[in-house]
Amino acid sequence: MDKRKQLSVSAIKNGTVIDHIPAKNLFKVITILGLEKFDHKVTFGTNFESKKLGKKGIIKVTDKSFSEDDVNRIALVAPEAKLNIIKDYEVTEKYDLTVPEEIIGIVKCVNPQCITNHEEVTTKFRVFKNRGVALKCNYCEKITDQEQIEIQ
Ligand code: CTP
Ligand code: ZN
Repeated sequence: MDKRKQLSVSAIKNGTVIDHIPAKNLFKVITILGLEKFDHKVTFGTNFESKKLGKKGIIKVTDKSFSEDDVNRIALVAPEAKLNIIKDYEVTEKYDLTVPEEIIGIVKCVNPQCITNHEEVTTKFRVFKNRGVALKCNYCEKITDQEQIEIQ
């Protein structure tokens, strides 16, 4: 592939690249990772062409590594994302994400009647696969489907 096309967002020397994020969920991923609170250099781009996803987003964080748990939470909205560790301009490690079994906080329950939407109760869901991922609320047992996931 043409490298000039590939690197629409500049290459980084050291850090983390999260690639293959569905374009429409890029900002959800930014929120889940808490990137707005970072003082590292962050670059991102969206609506790049992707054979697999149609349009993809990408995030690059300089001089920063994430814990596995932090990154896996983004699998909720970007299950096909790849995590790349960059050292001295080279991709030294590349990981697929694993959807966690349980999600605490982050996501809002789809049920307007749910206690978590009326009181100061942290949401909690069991995650299972159902055409993508689905979340079963620990409190009201309603299912929040992947397309309905709203980040708190
Ligand atoms: N990348 C970067 N800075 C570098 C090296 C790579 O920002 N110094 C980015 C690339 O732009 C790409 C990602 O890290 O988005 C993964 O790089 P690479 O594995 O070389 O790209 P692909 O082979 O296209 O990866 P995949 O197979 O995961 O699509
Ligand atoms: Zn609920």
